[in-house]
Amino acid sequence: MKKALITGITGQDGSYLADFLLNKGYQVWGIIRRSSSFHTGRIDHLYRDLHEEPQLRLVYGDLTDGSNLSAIVNEIRPDEIYNLGAQSHVRVSFDMPIFTVDTDALGTLRLLEAVRSSDKAVKFYQASSSEMYGKATEVPQTEMTPFYPRSPYGCAKVYSFWQTVNYREAYNLFVCNGILFNHESPRRGETFVTRKITMAATRIKCGLQSKLYLGNLDAKRDWGYAGDYVEAMWLMLQQDKPDDYVVATGESHSVREFVAEVFAYLDMDWQKYVEIDPRYFRPSEVDLLQGDASKARKVLGWKPKVTFKELARIMTDADMGIAEREKILKDHGR
Ligand code: NAP
Ligand code: GDD
Repeated sequence: MKKALITGITGQDGSYLADFLLNKGYQVWGIIRRSSSFHTGRIDHLYRDLHEEPQLRLVYGDLTDGSNLSAIVNEIRPDEIYNLGAQSHVRVSFDMPIFTVDTDALGTLRLLEAVRSSDKAVKFYQASSSEMYGKATEVPQTEMTPFYPRSPYGCAKVYSFWQTVNYREAYNLFVCNGILFNHESPRRGETFVTRKITMAATRIKCGLQSKLYLGNLDAKRDWGYAGDYVEAMWLMLQQDKPDDYVVATGESHSVREFVAEVFAYLDMDWQKYVEIDPRYFRPSEVDLLQGDASKARKVLGWKPKVTFKELARIMTDADMGIAEREKILKDHGR
């Protein structure tokens, strides 16, 4: 049985990847941070669904603690490591640049060092990001497009990208970068723009809130579905040779279009409810991301399944369920 180790297993992608790998018959180990409250909501269903010996195991760790990462890699001796752990919020990275770089840049280096010193050949996936293109020099962006990061987060991801490439070339390790464009789902963190919109729109529909405050409506993103994207991560580690791949839908839509799509689906006029709050503007913005995933399509045989419209509806339907339950509780005074 193959063993996979996932950093960031409590996050959106980590939870979908754990679902995916367990279905493939892997034993999955996840690194979780100690917290004063439970934060395993996205993977709790995996414990409930497992009848026999649980193949999901959690260990405490943190990307800021290198000795702990080495001890975990040496003890578990995984076949594959997926480094998904990160301070992943671009706006927050301006408020917490040092922590972001410690986790998202040095954290990757610490884990690569653990891989390099392991006596077992471990395959390694690095969660690189379309944010690395930042002020993009061409549209669409491919594996050859130069990076021009626009945030502490983007800079940290560029650092990790190149460390990963360098460890491949210097030490002949099987390490890959997936350059993933934005991907969303009902498990998306609540402060990322798509989820913020679907949560607010459904709560407005249920009479639980009256307004939605947003920042830049003109920014354009290439939005796909997280469930589709974790398959691409796995495929990268199943190839004969390690390489770097763009993973994207090839379509770009503005924040305004996403808002309009969701509110129209709920039969509401978004302009009556959405207000602009400059607090959500960023010191430097990434205006347009649109990926060309031809290489992933050709080499990995990967393509996205869920369309922009379907994504907006999947997320809206899921949040409507949550809003309706909240409304019932409120009506019963709970
Ligand atoms: P997410 O939902 O924010 O999850 C981030 C995960 O990282 C959480 O499990 C979090 O743990 C963990 N984490 C944060 N700081 C850590 C630290 N110091 N040590 C160990 N773990 C830490 O992010 P996501 O959307 O799943 O994204 C997964 C990865 O892909 C991230 O590296 C992100 O930067 C990258 N990425 C995401 C997208 C996207 O559109 N989603 C696109 C490109 C790249 P807690 O639960 O304890 O906070
Ligand atoms: N979060 C947020 N909140 N974004 C807003 C808001 C708001 O109220 N209003 C407008 N936006 C705009 C942002 O300025 C940005 O241009 C766009 O919506 C998307 O913002 P996010 O959903 O926060 O995602 P992101 O593109 O900055 O970063 C995500 O995708 C990256 C891949 O390109 C994150 O998942 C990163 O971790 C990931 O690497």
